[in-house]
Amino acid sequence: MSVHIHTIKEQVFDTVSEPAYVNIESVSLSLSEKIILKDVSFSLPATGISSLIGPSGAGKSSLLRCLTSLYDNWQGTILVAGTNTRAWLGGEDDLRRHIGLISQKPAVFPASIYDNVIFGLSRKERKQDQSSRVEQCLKQAALWDEVKERLHSPANTLSVGQQQRLCLARALALEPKVLLLDEPTASLDPRSKQLIEASLHDLAKNMPVLCVTHDLEQAQRLQGQVIFMCDGKIIETASANDFFQHPERLETREFLRWSVCDCD
Ligand SMILES: Nc1ncnc2c1ncn2[C@@H]1O[C@H](COP(=O)(O)OP(=O)(O)O)[C@@H](O)[C@H]1O
Ligand SMILES: [Mg+2]
Repeated sequence: MSVHIHTIKEQVFDTVSEPAYVNIESVSLSLSEKIILKDVSFSLPATGISSLIGPSGAGKSSLLRCLTSLYDNWQGTILVAGTNTRAWLGGEDDLRRHIGLISQKPAVFPASIYDNVIFGLSRKERKQDQSSRVEQCLKQAALWDEVKERLHSPANTLSVGQQQRLCLARALALEPKVLLLDEPTASLDPRSKQLIEASLHDLAKNMPVLCVTHDLEQAQRLQGQVIFMCDGKIIETASANDFFQHPERLETREFLRWSVCDCD
């Protein structure tokens, strides 16, 4: 991956200090006069998985919306590949191609499996034969083997878990350089959950992957770094091993024990 590297002062990884690809610096957000994010700062290295955890209402989804410019009234700085997202050459559409976002509920379009994968491509690209891209993305999303004989069947005939993997394939067809996922496996069958986690591990070899999850076991399996947020603030950021074995903050210990946080 060719990146402009923005060096970071702090690095939570135990082993190699990898340069950051995404830097979130003092991001704050208010909606309807309510403070949603307070001075949020962390970074995502050029490769590897980060899990964003925290109680419901902590601001996790809002933060992903700031990262993809779905909210634009936030304050602070977000750098992606060294570029301020507010000055992104190519505008918001290009930024959203660069940063793939997968939501909790899979939203497939009333079209074939094949057409769903190429949905985000330009009209010109869609007119060309995209078979090899479709195959590659479905393989990366661990869905190919289950659908290769029926690529032209309606996507809504797939199970929810398969539909979520299709959404992942659709995001990958746009060749994102960063992948954000908002509780992607929250309502999925265990097999789909396992396949998506394996897929994220593979994808994270080449790009930063940030996965919001309320499943602490999943955050442990994903490894990488864990970012713990509560009430719009970052409470603790550490490698998964340190986070789960030696949490530093009292709030983190309470959250790991009870899945609740009284930090506000
Ligand atoms: N449009 C909005 N106006 C006012 N408050 C909102 C709006 N959207 C979300 N919130 C509030 O922002 C807080 C964070 O929400 P969210 O980012 O969805 O949290 P999480 O994803 O961590 O559960 C919640 O208290 C929620 O009620
Ligand atoms: Mg959320």
